[in-house]
Amino acid sequence: MSAAQGAAPTEAPHEPVFAGKPRERLEALFPKYPTKQACLLPALWIVQEERGWISPAAMAEVATVLGLTPAYVRGVVTFYTMYHTHPVGRHFIQVCTTSPCHLCGSDDVVKALLKETGCGELGTTSADGRFTVIEVECLGACGFATPILVDNDFIESVTPERVPGILAGYR
Ligand code: FES
Repeated sequence: MSAAQGAAPTEAPHEPVFAGKPRERLEALFPKYPTKQACLLPALWIVQEERGWISPAAMAEVATVLGLTPAYVRGVVTFYTMYHTHPVGRHFIQVCTTSPCHLCGSDDVVKALLKETGCGELGTTSADGRFTVIEVECLGACGFATPILVDNDFIESVTPERVPGILAGYR
């Protein structure tokens, strides 16, 4: 399932990502992988770091550069919640709401996150552009419900009461 869902973004004309430094970064990866195609995941990270999200045009560019089909690239992008198929806030928050965490109150954590960030709904971005919150499947920390990921920071045992303090570090 893809990351943030919402209205289809309007896309400006595509400026190639893989020029200059990003191209050098990608080409430096090629010798480390058995094939060019095997560089797909790091190539997508480069796109996301450069543009903040991975547009259909960027997927097509990656496909061309790596000799893959756009459909294959899209299949990979939409499989992982870490890749953004829409613009997202500066801080991307993923909350586990799978059954064990659900039973331990993840719904209340989600509500607190939506309220404190001002996002209002899952998958939308706050008006100040700071936060996007999504729910995800098991984050592999079922004994520490509820875990959340804020960007690359993994935070365990989150309760609604802890949410304001956690978010204060990302304002
Ligand atoms: S079910 Fe939430 S981390 Fe596993």
